[in-house]
Amino acid sequence: MNPVEIRPGVFWVGVNDRVTDLFEGLWPISREGISYNSYLIRDEKTALIDLSKEVLTDDYLAQLSGVLDIASLDYVVINHMEPDHSGVLVRLRELAPNAILLGMPKTVRMLNDFYGITDNIEQLSNGQELSLGKNTLRFVYTPFVHWPETMMTYMVEQGVLFPCDGFGGYGALDGAIFDDTCADLAYFEAEALRYFTNIVAAYSKSVLSAIGKFAGLPIEMVAPAHGLIWRKDPGRIIELYETWSTYYREPAEVGITALFGTMYRNTERALSAALDGIEAEGVPVKVYDVRKSHVSYMLSDLWTRRGVLVAAPTYEGGLFPDMMNALAMADRKHVAHKTAAFLGSKAWGGGAQNDFEAMAQRMGWDVVGGFDFLGGPDAGDLDRARAMGQQLARAIKT
Ligand code: FEO
Repeated sequence: MNPVEIRPGVFWVGVNDRVTDLFEGLWPISREGISYNSYLIRDEKTALIDLSKEVLTDDYLAQLSGVLDIASLDYVVINHMEPDHSGVLVRLRELAPNAILLGMPKTVRMLNDFYGITDNIEQLSNGQELSLGKNTLRFVYTPFVHWPETMMTYMVEQGVLFPCDGFGGYGALDGAIFDDTCADLAYFEAEALRYFTNIVAAYSKSVLSAIGKFAGLPIEMVAPAHGLIWRKDPGRIIELYETWSTYYREPAEVGITALFGTMYRNTERALSAALDGIEAEGVPVKVYDVRKSHVSYMLSDLWTRRGVLVAAPTYEGGLFPDMMNALAMADRKHVAHKTAAFLGSKAWGGGAQNDFEAMAQRMGWDVVGGFDFLGGPDAGDLDRARAMGQQLARAIKT
């Protein structure tokens, strides 16, 4: 894709990554891809905001050289040091040796830690402004969205917010880069939610704090470092992030995420009965087989639905391993304020339910039901599963 002038004198010079399989080495993007959005401001002075991952250095520099004599670059604004945004920095400095790097105090230390860079750096303070000519940049410290050094840059005269990871999402940009020109906005919103839960949600309190710092300021455009640029409705992505962030401290939407694992379909048959019970109460449910789905996708629903049904058998005296892994990631991401229930086959001995209850207690989940059964479920077990599904659904409606 070629550079795009997104506002007068402001160019998107991002690149798409369709070759990385796991973002951060953890989160699947093989199908979706991701964009590393970078922005060039051409004014009396020139400034780059956010960069790209090292693997796309050649593409990125080709992109940039289409709209800038790189050697003349004056400033590089480093909102965030994670290498998906800073990876091209060493090469860029070879081509633009006079460019001044701008970042918060922790960025200065990280520039040395990650790249051995110690010169041509200007340390910023919260709220500091920089005039480029017609345009002024204001640097707002927004720690832990999602690293300690993160800041957001606000372009005062044009009301453009460059929030880096904040308000970002997975998904390569297939030609269209704006919210009003993309072919499937719902897809990008779903991928923004997945990105939020995978990358940012554990720091929801910091996200809310960051949003508060821009309250009352005119925001005409939100230009994050991943995903769509929001120009038609910039408030939309801010509202979504704000709503999602509140779920760290209060119950989420009415709905249930059902996670199941099964070895010989005994647990799966009981799950099926429990789903009948949920359906009878008219509560929406999203079902994931933990053996087949990556937890990256489960997190979107775990985060935004207040109910969780865990159905898993005992394996070697404990919880089915794939389920244990899924719940461990939920714990890592601080998935809290859930109402939950458990069922599963004890196989020949049991142990899964105890492991589940320990995990639920650790996460502060309210467990409203749970039972297990030896071997396969008999008619009574299926009735019990159905009743438990109904009980869980009722509990989250109140
Ligand atoms: Fe897109 Fe935290 O890096």
